[in-house]
Amino acid sequence: MKKASMISIGAYVPEFILTNHDLEKMVETSDEWIVKRTGIHTRHIAKDEVTSDLGYKAAKQAIERAKLAPSDIDAIICATISPDYLCMPSTACRISNLLGLTNVTAFDISAACTGFIYLLEIAKSLVESGMKKNVLIIGAEKLSSITNWEDRGTCVLFGDGAGAAVISLREDNHIIDVHTSSDGSKGELLITPGCGSVNPMSQDTLDKKLHFMHMAGNEVFKVAVNTLTNDVIDILAKNGILSSQIDLFIPHQANLRIINAVQQKLGLSDEQCVLTVAKYGNTSSASIPMAINDAFESGRLKNGSLMLLDAFGGGFTWGSALLKFGGK
Ligand code: COA
Repeated sequence: MKKASMISIGAYVPEFILTNHDLEKMVETSDEWIVKRTGIHTRHIAKDEVTSDLGYKAAKQAIERAKLAPSDIDAIICATISPDYLCMPSTACRISNLLGLTNVTAFDISAACTGFIYLLEIAKSLVESGMKKNVLIIGAEKLSSITNWEDRGTCVLFGDGAGAAVISLREDNHIIDVHTSSDGSKGELLITPGCGSVNPMSQDTLDKKLHFMHMAGNEVFKVAVNTLTNDVIDILAKNGILSSQIDLFIPHQANLRIINAVQQKLGLSDEQCVLTVAKYGNTSSASIPMAINDAFESGRLKNGSLMLLDAFGGGFTWGSALLKFGGK
């Protein structure tokens, strides 16, 4: 029976690399502190490119690898917290324009670092219901544009990049299950407080730097570890799959310590885990598809490989997915 499958993956990272030593010159921090607390060594920063440029380059690669033409795509959904424009047009519309499409469903979603898991759930529903044939999902972020480069508690964590995948119906190698969730009561722990309807843009919101990301890192950290561990245990149990059967565990790349904690609880080996946090930092909705692409390009991810994905982010939102890779 035909079901939704991830038939391709693509990614793009901007060229410029910002090292921990560069950050030592910008804020009071050290390479040693950043590596010990986060596992991050470098992150890529977009200079002359905006979020839709990053998303377009990842999307183009994913469409080519799916052996499709842009005109075969009938829905484009972009997850981002750093859109080209605050309200409109959507970044998905901007990417559709770059792809040369003028008649396609296109919209953005906002689920922070869990964006790509939410995208999988939406795309699966659209293709399995018969509403759409080939759904292009994109996680694209220019987080450097919403980062306070004077706040050492956040600026060392984030980077820019994009990842994309095409979801279509196939006979085998399906998306087995997707779980998404949220708890809005903790929204203020990870927030961009300014420039929305609560604090419309004014000189005051700019002076207070409310348009940048604010995070209570330590509190987020504790909730993330507990929530993610329970979530991946649940999705494995629900589907009768043992952690030893997973070919690749591809978590959201926020912090090496969070990933290691979940890895240890599940008893996953290093060979099963895909890690890109050291070189890319946290790229929010882009981090999972960028990591899937890394595994694909290094030959670790093959047609039929069983992947376990998990993510946690602002909202709070979280989720996990089990899928066999349908790309070749
Ligand atoms: N360099 C040096 N010192 C720093 C620093 C930096 N870049 N950032 C913070 N510090 C200091 C703090 O000021 C604090 O100093 P104090 O003890 O004198 O007050 C000390 O380091 C410890 O800060 P704390 O925030 O408790 O550190 P931590 O071990 O929690 O690590 C994070 C901070 C941000 C790396 C960590 O909390 C984290 O990764 N949080 C979750 C991120 C995440 O997953 N986000 C959600 C998903 S996107």
